[in-house]
Amino acid sequence: RFQRRIRACRYDIDQFTPNFLSIFDSLVPSEEEIAKQNQLLAALSRLINKEWPNSKLYLYGSCANSFGFSNSDIDLCLSIDDKEMSKVDIILKLAEILQAGNLQNIQALTRARVPIVKLMDQVTGLSCDICVNNLLAVVNTKLLRDYAQIDRRLQQLAFIVKHWAKSRRVNETYQGTLSSYAYVIMCIHLLQLRRILPCLQEMDATCNVTVDDNHCTYFDQVDKLKNYGAHNKETVSSLLWAFFHYWAYQHDYMQDVISIRTGRIISKHMKDWTRRVGNDRHLICIEDPFETSHDLGRVVDKFSIKILREEFERAANILQYDANPSVTLFEPYVP
Ligand code: GTP
Ligand code: MG
Repeated sequence: RFQRRIRACRYDIDQFTPNFLSIFDSLVPSEEEIAKQNQLLAALSRLINKEWPNSKLYLYGSCANSFGFSNSDIDLCLSIDDKEMSKVDIILKLAEILQAGNLQNIQALTRARVPIVKLMDQVTGLSCDICVNNLLAVVNTKLLRDYAQIDRRLQQLAFIVKHWAKSRRVNETYQGTLSSYAYVIMCIHLLQLRRILPCLQEMDATCNVTVDDNHCTYFDQVDKLKNYGAHNKETVSSLLWAFFHYWAYQHDYMQDVISIRTGRIISKHMKDWTRRVGNDRHLICIEDPFETSHDLGRVVDKFSIKILREEFERAANILQYDANPSVTLFEPYVP
């Protein structure tokens, strides 16, 4: 049986806050970059709407969820209701429209798990991927953005965790480690348990959409919740310590599922996630807030779980003992 180890945070953790915050500041995209993203969105929307007047183009993923680093690629989703055309036909037609609109480096990837059109825009210098009718991603992007509005520490914590995960190469889903989306959900969960964030899906719904049989409802008037976490004075360094301490020594990998939908830890047993089903091994369980049968940890296998847990322990120990945690934490992984 897994032994939970509780230890007290080092007394001087807060002295590192300015260092962590300056790392955060260096990763946030500039106003100018955000303006460029919107410029590209507007230009592409104009072009596509000429052909498909009832379609709509959305930004989603890190460029729209408040958790994007500067210079990242942008994710777009085309919403179109056309019963005549298959997704692949739409992708091919979309590539044609963009080509005719003088955009360069267009590639239609019709055989990918999620078919997309890739392009690089010469005017703004931005690269982007456009998918079709992936509206759940648009809705979960809004949920993450809404959480980020409530307390500034979420964005700070998630940026630092993502930066750690990229430096240590544990943000590679094709290698069996976790997506950026999963890491942000893990941060939201921690802040819910510490009463810095509420559980929006447990509150009276003010936002209500149904996407492929998934009812996505939650309280989205987040400007009314700006003081929600104010009674909790923890700094981003102590939250970072708590994050890694939790995943290194407290999370029960045998029994627990983290769930931001409920704001609680729920049991694997209840979700029937106790054994491998197909390719889903459920070795670390992170419930998707809307697609609740979906475990964001499903990509993790028996090799990568070991790597991941060793990295959580390394990070927890650095935050506990290292003289220079804001440097050591991000030292690149060397195989
Ligand atoms: P970076 O590109 O690493 O900065 O992060 P990102 O926020 O763009 O994350 P990622 O590439 O992991 O995912 C892009 C978007 O796709 C997320 O914001 C989600 O909206 C959506 N997404 C990613 N993975 C999943 C998943 O497993 N399930 C669902 N429903 N949506 C996902
Ligand atoms: Mg992305």
